Amino acid sequence: MPVITLLSPDASPGSAALARIAKAATDTLGIAPDRCWVTWQRLDRDAAYRPQWQGDGPYPPIGFVTCKASYPAALVGDLLRAVQGELAAVLGIPGSDIYLAVRRGIEGELLVRDEIWNGDDVPAVTAQPVAHVVGGREEVFDDAWDGVEAVIRLDGSRFGPEALYGLADFSHLEVVFQFDRVPLSKIETGARHPRGNTEWPLVGIFAQRGKNRPNRIGVSRCKLHRVDGLDIHVSGLDAVAGSPVLDIKPYMAEFGPRGTVRQPAWTEEIMRDYY
Ligand SMILES: C[S@@+](CC[C@H](N)C(=O)[O-])C[C@H]1O[C@@H](n2cnc3c(N)ncnc32)[C@H](O)[C@@H]1O
Repeated sequence: MPVITLLSPDASPGSAALARIAKAATDTLGIAPDRCWVTWQRLDRDAAYRPQWQGDGPYPPIGFVTCKASYPAALVGDLLRAVQGELAAVLGIPGSDIYLAVRRGIEGELLVRDEIWNGDDVPAVTAQPVAHVVGGREEVFDDAWDGVEAVIRLDGSRFGPEALYGLADFSHLEVVFQFDRVPLSKIETGARHPRGNTEWPLVGIFAQRGKNRPNRIGVSRCKLHRVDGLDIHVSGLDAVAGSPVLDIKPYMAEFGPRGTVRQPAWTEEIMRDYY
């Protein structure tokens, strides 16, 4: 529920232009368009000290973006850049002339629709990556992962090599990672054709393993080659370079499925060239 307040000596560009700015914000956050408000406040130039507002206009606005304190910094950065970019396009001025500051809405301190906002209905789960994928494939591409070699590098500020003692006795790993390159605006909460291919059935996001899923979590089983200090050398990990790794577990056959595995025909087609 961001609230964007823009200050300028110039007249408002109009509500349609402000709606475009709101849409850039809600698309970035992956929330409904009516969850953002944008207001334009006209200031007397003499009532503000801003050197860029001396001389002839147009005057680049300054603004405040009020949003939840629970949004991670990277998301707030995306939000600021989206608002700045759209505002620059609407006003026809360089984005670098626009200053935006963030105000964080704290639970219990914000009045929203006549109620004090006490957090979201669904509590946010936050997690710090334990490692990152280094090397391997740079581009998001869907097939031929088997030969791709990469390193999972543990966060040295939190872990030492002892966190990996014994891991090299296993042949395979189970790695939980985040599809961090999926923009929030592309997240699917309903059904879609896998890979957008209409020859495959329309299936719910939880009946497929596509990357555009609500929490953008991937689970990959890969081959473990060796452990070297904080580096785990692997192949067949279908996470691109830079992916944040949330957990690493040794693969144990007993945790695999018990009983016969059943799956629809389209999955065999989609997986034909995957590894
Ligand atoms: C279909 S998903 C399956 C991932 C995992 N095996 C699973 O089942 O959860 C894998 C695809 O996600 C894409 N991908 C990998 N890392 C990504 C990242 N950090 N951000 C966005 N997409 C990524 C790649 O194109 C890869 O083919």
